[in-house]
Amino acid sequence: MKHLSALLLFMAILAVACSPKTAPTSAEKSAPAVPKVTYAADISPLLLGKCAPCHYPAQNGKKEALDTYEAAQKHINAVISRVELPQDDPRFMPFKMKKPALTPDEITLLKNWARGGFAK
Ligand code: HEC
Repeated sequence: MKHLSALLLFMAILAVACSPKTAPTSAEKSAPAVPKVTYAADISPLLLGKCAPCHYPAQNGKKEALDTYEAAQKHINAVISRVELPQDDPRFMPFKMKKPALTPDEITLLKNWARGGFAK
């Protein structure tokens, strides 16, 4: 009976492998191409973690303020271009690597925030 059980196993695997993929649900179809990024949940903590105190007037920062939604939105292009520079570029931010560089995921968050229309 060894052959029969091997055959049954083979057929079972075949059945699973050949079963049609379930159709995507309507939620999957209408999901936005850009994942939702918000200032409150993503951007504010990111900038606070990497750009304070220099860009935070309340922390005695003297550089262009990046401490509010409006400021972050207004300067988003400069922010993205500075953090994407080579780390040995004198214009690279965070300035002189006083804070850890942004990770690729964090840079993607900034870009997706802009692409998604600057959600609060
Ligand atoms: C240790 C202090 C310090 C930190 C931390 C820092 N910066 Fe700066 N930032 C500076 C200084 C100093 C300048 C002015 C020199 C220059 O423009 O390169 C500056 C200038 C800038 C400018 C240009 C502002 C203008 O008026 O054109 C941008 C944009 C900027 N920083 C973005 C950032 C971002 C984004 C972060 C966090 C990821 C950050 N910085 C972190 C010190 C800092």
